[in-house]
Amino acid sequence: MFASAVLVFTLCLCYLNPTVGQDCQSRQDLQGSLKQIQKLLSTYEASNLQSLRNLKKKINLLQSTAGKQITKAVNSTCPKLDAPMNGRKLGRSHSVGHEVHFLCDPGYELVGSESRVCQDSLTWSGQQPACRDTNACACSPCLNGGTCVDERKKFSCVCAKGWAGATCQNQMPKFFVIMTNTSAATSPATNAAAAATLPAATSGPFVRPSRCTLTQGTTHCTCEPGYTISGRDSNTCTDIDECELFHNGQAGRLCLHTCINTPGGYRCSCPVGYNSTRDGRSCKDIDECATRQNNCTKDQTCINTYGGFQCVHVDCPKVPHATYVKTSPMRCERNPCPLDNKACSQTPNSFSYHYLAVVSNLSAPRVMFRVSALRPMGDTLRFSLLGGKLARRHFTVQRSDRLTGQLMLVSPVQGPATLEAEVEMSELEKGVQLGRFITKVTMFISQYEF
Ligand SMILES: *[C@@H]1O[C@H](CO)[C@@H](O)[C@H](O)[C@H]1NC(C)=O
Ligand SMILES: *[C@@H]1O[C@H](CO)[C@@H](O)[C@H](O)[C@H]1NC(C)=O
Ligand SMILES: *[C@@H]1O[C@H](CO)[C@@H](O)[C@H](O)[C@H]1NC(C)=O
Ligand SMILES: *[C@@H]1O[C@H](CO)[C@@H](O)[C@H](O)[C@H]1NC(C)=O
Ligand SMILES: *[C@@H]1O[C@H](CO)[C@@H](O)[C@H](O)[C@H]1NC(C)=O
Repeated sequence: MFASAVLVFTLCLCYLNPTVGQDCQSRQDLQGSLKQIQKLLSTYEASNLQSLRNLKKKINLLQSTAGKQITKAVNSTCPKLDAPMNGRKLGRSHSVGHEVHFLCDPGYELVGSESRVCQDSLTWSGQQPACRDTNACACSPCLNGGTCVDERKKFSCVCAKGWAGATCQNQMPKFFVIMTNTSAATSPATNAAAAATLPAATSGPFVRPSRCTLTQGTTHCTCEPGYTISGRDSNTCTDIDECELFHNGQAGRLCLHTCINTPGGYRCSCPVGYNSTRDGRSCKDIDECATRQNNCTKDQTCINTYGGFQCVHVDCPKVPHATYVKTSPMRCERNPCPLDNKACSQTPNSFSYHYLAVVSNLSAPRVMFRVSALRPMGDTLRFSLLGGKLARRHFTVQRSDRLTGQLMLVSPVQGPATLEAEVEMSELEKGVQLGRFITKVTMFISQYEF
């Protein structure tokens, strides 16, 4: 009985940038190979068909010579089979014992049986195959439990916790601050020993020899965490520069501030005035005012800012026709005016001072401060912004409800900077001013956005 040879091709199409995934060929290479295979199969098919025809002829000859009884309809063909969409069927005979093969066009992969045999029961073995758009994830390119995300013609990996890299090939350092035994690196004795046993290229803290084992004739080399295999014979481990690798990664930067690559790991550093957070990646402002790390004097008030502190001291303003006294460290009230002194009664009733610490580049618009009248007198309450051009460029004053005005930041401010704004609230009765209250807001904007 005639049976054609079965060619099995296992193809894996992966599209990734060429620096990673050495197992994966380029798409062009694969398409070229596919075309060659198709050509080969066509030739193969043609020659098979030829021999099949010859065989049939011989059978027919045999049948006709054996007499009419034999030709008595023996239904020995399987139902017709169609080629899959975006693919081809090789082999046209549907007779028992014959085999057909299926092949997909470039860019498609076969799902189902690669070949089917017409069985004695006059049914085909296997499942009708289909040609599916090539899935870049088909060859499971993501390592170490990473999840492959098919992005049509290429893929990306969502790595499991503790792994990183395009194919999750790199182990993330367990701790953000890796202690290195510097005594080993600086001790001349150990250095000499290392130099004696290792080639120069494989010593030093950022390059290390790999650990290789020979299993069934295959050498398998591994590196310590934080290092990646390199060198012509995989004999070297090179430090992974995590700072570079995660410079602008999707998962965010590795460090809030500065990333420092270390042998086998990395660490983050914070600017002066900040402490590293527990996870080592973020920075937390140090409250100098709470920890006596400030040098504010007794008559000053310490204001903690992001990355530092400010010592402030309120002196009541000198205003003609009026005198002010401090009723609290941050508030000055006008002494009662003589009954008939109109000029005095037009001056502000009070000045209050507020200091805000903010980070640089704060998004706007946003409410920075609210001023409310506790016990309103009169029939009208009016809020307005005092101050120069600078204040007007960054702030505006709006009413948020009947008794409240709010100071709004209208454009982001880059630090370090100090901005001042004054909100005046006036109370009126039938157009006559009953009182004026000034609120001075000082914003200390830090250098950083944290
Ligand atoms: C042979 O079998 C096929 C499919 O089972 C059927 O369509 C066809 O009519 C049969 N022919 C004869 C001669 O019985
Ligand atoms: C550091 O290396 C030296 C020399 O190899 C060794 O004696 C010492 O125990 C090491 N210290 C730590 C903490 O690993
Ligand atoms: C900042 O960190 C250092 C060292 O971890 C610690 O000694 C200090 O108390 C911390 N300061 C604050 C304000 O938390
Ligand atoms: C506090 O110390 C800083 C430097 O640490 C100095 O520049 C500043 O003048 C000092 N302020 C006072 C009020 O002593
Ligand atoms: C300010 O923040 C915006 C978005 O929040 C950002 O796009 C911009 O680059 C930042 N500007 C600076 C100078 O950091």
